[in-house]
Amino acid sequence: MGKVISLINLKGGVGKTTTTVALAEFLTLEKRKKVLVIDLDPQTNATVMLINQDAWKRANDNKRTIHQMFLDKLNDTDYFDIYKSIIKGVSSIGGGIPDLHLLPSSIDLLDVQDRIPMINQMNSFAQSPITVLANYLTQQIIDEYDYILIDCPPNLGVITLNGIYLSDYYLIPVVADILSTYGIPQIKDRINKVSVNIKSINRSYNIKPLGIVITKYRMQSRMHRETRDDLILRSKLAETDKRSVPQVFKVYVKETTRISEATDIDVQINTLKQKYGYSQEVYDAYENITNEFIRRVK
Ligand SMILES: Nc1ncnc2c1ncn2[C@@H]1O[C@H](COP(=O)(O)OP(=O)(O)O)[C@@H](O)[C@H]1O
Ligand SMILES: [Mg+2]
Repeated sequence: MGKVISLINLKGGVGKTTTTVALAEFLTLEKRKKVLVIDLDPQTNATVMLINQDAWKRANDNKRTIHQMFLDKLNDTDYFDIYKSIIKGVSSIGGGIPDLHLLPSSIDLLDVQDRIPMINQMNSFAQSPITVLANYLTQQIIDEYDYILIDCPPNLGVITLNGIYLSDYYLIPVVADILSTYGIPQIKDRINKVSVNIKSINRSYNIKPLGIVITKYRMQSRMHRETRDDLILRSKLAETDKRSVPQVFKVYVKETTRISEATDIDVQINTLKQKYGYSQEVYDAYENITNEFIRRVK
């Protein structure tokens, strides 16, 4: 059974997309897993890290992005075809990784996102604005993969809830500072509340926190060290405690100046080692996080 994991934080710039792509590449190349990345963010960063701009333009012109998926529901049209829209063999590594697939986003989503909450396909909750993706991403498609990673926009709006609705787990990437960790209890609360509603129509629904991944970590920064220690302490509190947060992944990804070069799709690379091995520490961190990820997703 394919496992679905949403990557969420209320703040941008905390490494959601970088973590999504790195996990996808390590899971496919090092662990021989089959992975689908779904880019739900209108910023389309995961999309442009995994396919080049020409490929994106083609997908967008052919109505093969999640923009069209939502637009169809708004306009009562039927152009979007999920099978045709999933792009196989994506990534800058080796000209594309056969077992890494992408359902791309589009910046055009910005034009429709404010209207998505008005989608009211019929009147049961099962057909609400938060189940649009689920109507297309059938269990059959999910089960073609080991993992489906959903890169969410930096909010808990209705687009993100489409990811939550389908997810077995959510993972929270953070920078160890006040702004990017402040919203963690809000994320927990909101997801818990939404889950109660979803469970009332789908009894097997059971989303769980997978943990917190610390990215862009600066050992020299007192703020980073203190925030990390605070997160670790809070992760040990009882779940009912308002201050409690999900478990913190053991290894952190350090801040490095080289990572943004490695995210350029037009820089063709042959191996995982070449892409991430500019720093053995970064490579080891992603490898460790991937191992911990596999252990936690059961
Ligand atoms: N470990 C890191 N060190 C330095 N820069 C990083 C690191 N991880 C990510 N970045 C950079 O930080 C920026 C934000 O990361 P991104 O993954 O796009 O965040 P989000 O998806 O949460 O907005 C990007 O420019 C990315 O290249
Ligand atoms: Mg992003």
